[in-house]
Amino acid sequence: MYIFGQPVLRKVAEDIDPENYPNLQELIDNMFETLRRSEGVGLAAPQVGLPIRLFIVDLDVLSEDEPQYKGYLKTFINPEIVEVSEETCSMSEGCLSIPGINESVKRPSKVLVNYLDEKFEEHELWLEGFEARVFQHEYDHLDGKMFIDHLSPFRKQIIKSKLIAMTKGKFNASYKCKANR
Ligand code: NI
Repeated sequence: MYIFGQPVLRKVAEDIDPENYPNLQELIDNMFETLRRSEGVGLAAPQVGLPIRLFIVDLDVLSEDEPQYKGYLKTFINPEIVEVSEETCSMSEGCLSIPGINESVKRPSKVLVNYLDEKFEEHELWLEGFEARVFQHEYDHLDGKMFIDHLSPFRKQIIKSKLIAMTKGKFNASYKCKANR
């Protein structure tokens, strides 16, 4: 897992040519394995060091409490946000690349999205609830953004020293990390 401070997390990722990307399925499988091991719900390619427009979401891990997410393992290739709702909501977010920090983030409640799945089939649909939230968080990673960018100057100030420590490799995570030291 690439940790805050790694330059790849701040790059705008490139579109994938899905029919001409070597070992794409293998990469996707590896990302799902990494995600399971880190006990997260979403993982974007820049978080594993690749500046390409791909992320995966595993809501199946929540299905014991939220049965509607049973089998929810989705791959999003070259995703786009077509439209967002005016209505917003706040939810607590964390990120595997920013271990130990959770903050409330305000985002649109619903998003109309477009993407290719792992079979390169195109989908366009409205997402809402937790699904919309995770999509927007992961989508940010593809534009070199992170959830902390959405915080107020006050909240940013509160977490600043933790972030500086993180760039020096001072943080705790239960998974394998690549930090800038
Ligand atoms: Ni994240």
